[in-house]
Amino acid sequence: MRPAPPELTGRVVIIGSGIAGLVTALALAPKPVVLVTQGRLGQGGSTVLAQGGIAAAIGPDDSPALHLADTLSAGDGLCNSAIAETILRQAGEAIAYLESHGTRFDRDASGAPVLGLEAAHGRRRILHAAGDGSGAEIVRALVAAVRSCASVAILEDTSACRLLTRDGMVAGLLLQRDGAGMILPTGQVVMATGGIGGLYDATTNPVDNRGQGIMLAARAGAALADMEFVQFHPTALAVARGRLPLISEAVRGEGAILINDCGERFLTGHPGEELAPRDIVARAIHAEMISGRQVFLKADDIDFPTRFPAITALCREAGIDPAREPIPVRPAQHYHMGGIHTDIFGRSTLPGLWAIGECAATGLHGANRLASNSLLEAAVMGLNAARDIAAGPGSHPAIPAMPDLPPEADPGQVRAITSRHLGILRDGASLHAAIAGLLPLALGRGGASDPAITALAIAVFAALRQESRGAHARTDFPAQAIHSVSRRMTLDQIIQSARLILSDNLARSA
Ligand code: SIN
Repeated sequence: MRPAPPELTGRVVIIGSGIAGLVTALALAPKPVVLVTQGRLGQGGSTVLAQGGIAAAIGPDDSPALHLADTLSAGDGLCNSAIAETILRQAGEAIAYLESHGTRFDRDASGAPVLGLEAAHGRRRILHAAGDGSGAEIVRALVAAVRSCASVAILEDTSACRLLTRDGMVAGLLLQRDGAGMILPTGQVVMATGGIGGLYDATTNPVDNRGQGIMLAARAGAALADMEFVQFHPTALAVARGRLPLISEAVRGEGAILINDCGERFLTGHPGEELAPRDIVARAIHAEMISGRQVFLKADDIDFPTRFPAITALCREAGIDPAREPIPVRPAQHYHMGGIHTDIFGRSTLPGLWAIGECAATGLHGANRLASNSLLEAAVMGLNAARDIAAGPGSHPAIPAMPDLPPEADPGQVRAITSRHLGILRDGASLHAAIAGLLPLALGRGGASDPAITALAIAVFAALRQESRGAHARTDFPAQAIHSVSRRMTLDQIIQSARLILSDNLARSA
């Protein structure tokens, strides 16, 4: 264990280098910050992979009120409408901020932004950059800005292993770098660690994203919210397992249709057809697949290489020419609506901890996220958290105790349980089996413990939600409950609930 360089001590520490972390670091300048990233800046994370863009109600036929209506409808009754309204109204500000830091959004010959359509949006309101390379362009611009920002100290190839507290407040971080532990005292941490895809066999996320930020916050005592709501993208490229390339919803927005291997268009007759909300399309594809069919996207009427150059390259790498042949697709874990519970400033329930982007649950997404609202939320919340931190009293950390480094994370067992029991369709028996498998792993001292904490939280929230809503589909509770609320729990409450669920199950089967 070694101490952190003294010049880094007491700074705001941002963990994660996707759009949320990068915007926060820039927006806090000239306040000195440390940006911790587990890989090389600009190379890992989900933002760089994002094909869909940023939803913003800036078209002449659009308004924040229409965008809000679509967001609330996708969220299926569980959005926090006041938070959603505030975030969506800040869209213009977020776009201007990204442009002022060098992001080049696609514009037409007259200079107006090109606005795309995605599922469940009532208007064309998706800004893209470089066609289907939006995330890569945003990261390129923000990384260049961060690298030339004197107030940002960057710690690459560094993982956050524990969030340390004293007297119920953030007091520092246990980091791991070059195989050794390092204690960084700080009273202000911003968690911007992204999603949970690495807990599943098939995901569009980088497999290193295993919900670490959620685990760190939960272990330190912060409340989690909406953990049961996991979004599966309907159309990942059906290649092997692990990280699957995404075939953006924008492809269906441009007119591509879904067919099965008998050539049948199985979404005909569903409201919205191929552009129905994501959970409906994902479940329809899942139903085809469990009846033994393969599913394809047929896109012959689209000038694919021009409109979707990045997807064309991904398909060609897999030996498929999307301009000539149907693209094999399958659902894959894509986004997590739940996470660390926060307010509109990104403040968690643990003093000194902010959370922004996918690892947070602001209440914008409710039970299901509207496409392209996530980059928007991450940018807006990065600005909001930075303002809140800058206006606050600053950090005077007590030197935290020196914990041991935890063992290296080993998500294999957890991934098998999560993929089998916490997928597109759930039921009570399967959720009990997940909790029975995950609880001992979470409470253990092995490498499965950290990933099992996040997975256990998903399983417990899912078991307690005895209804189907948004992305959470229970075959044993197919209807919506009359009274439904967004749930919040700390890790202690999650573990207590897990024990109760298991003992109730034992009592019933005795
Ligand atoms: C997509 O391009 O289909 C994904 C966009 C999103 O998840 O917001």
